[in-house]
Amino acid sequence: MATIIGGIGTTHVPSIGKAIAEKRNNEPYWKPFFRGFDYVHYWLAREKPDTVVVFYNDHGLNFFLDKLPTFAVGAASEYRNEDEGWGIPVSRSIAGDPALSWHLINALVADEFDITICQEMLIDHAVTIPMALMWPGQKWQGIKIVPVSINTVQHPLPSLKRCFNLGRSIGRALASYPENRRVLVVGTGGLSHQLDGKRAGFINREFDRFCMDKLAREPDLLTRYSVHDFIEEAGAQGIEFLNWMAMRGALNVHVAEVHRNYHVPISNTAAATVVLENRPDPQIRAA
Ligand SMILES: [Fe+2]
Repeated sequence: MATIIGGIGTTHVPSIGKAIAEKRNNEPYWKPFFRGFDYVHYWLAREKPDTVVVFYNDHGLNFFLDKLPTFAVGAASEYRNEDEGWGIPVSRSIAGDPALSWHLINALVADEFDITICQEMLIDHAVTIPMALMWPGQKWQGIKIVPVSINTVQHPLPSLKRCFNLGRSIGRALASYPENRRVLVVGTGGLSHQLDGKRAGFINREFDRFCMDKLAREPDLLTRYSVHDFIEEAGAQGIEFLNWMAMRGALNVHVAEVHRNYHVPISNTAAATVVLENRPDPQIRAA
């Protein structure tokens, strides 16, 4: 049976990739962000995940506005990165876990999620940067991923509740997987930011804090936000928080926030890193 050790939420701003490549981690601008990963490295070394389910949003490398699935699940044995035009080096490939992918795909379809199945899938910085932050030097040998892409770009977007329930479905499917796996669930993106329009540069510290507080203890409260109300509070690209909602959905009802780092700004984004540890639930969750 697969065991979900916990979840990590973290940003995926492209300039982080450049900072890593140029070894600028200890410069004053970057240090407050990168030092937030010291605990993550300790926690990963202790918990030893072997598979990572990554909820993220593609930025045009694999999907574009002409064809953009609401939810897409990777079922490849390997995931390649390519040049996205951000000036960051192309990342090393990451191994897939096709058997687990197909188990999740079957469970999601049985749960009436109409997903796109990707037996080939390029992964962009929204996967590779969080992976490089968690495993510096791209030392992720032995780690496999199942990427799950959520549309946060082309409206209409799925609701926070729908993404939370997508995560719940994946959490249940992991619990029924017959093979042993130690699974980490990751949601990437955010937090509040807006890259264009009249509110370009918009950041909402208070709302970010509210979201992180509620994510651990009262995620149901967040599911009551409509996409448009959430964007009003978090900015147009702050809706990448949908990936965090899916991550949270995959975890138990009870989790402990064991680490949080929040730093403003990285590029034009409020950058956050949160580690949620699964705690035993008193009873099996209903569907
Ligand atoms: Fe993004």
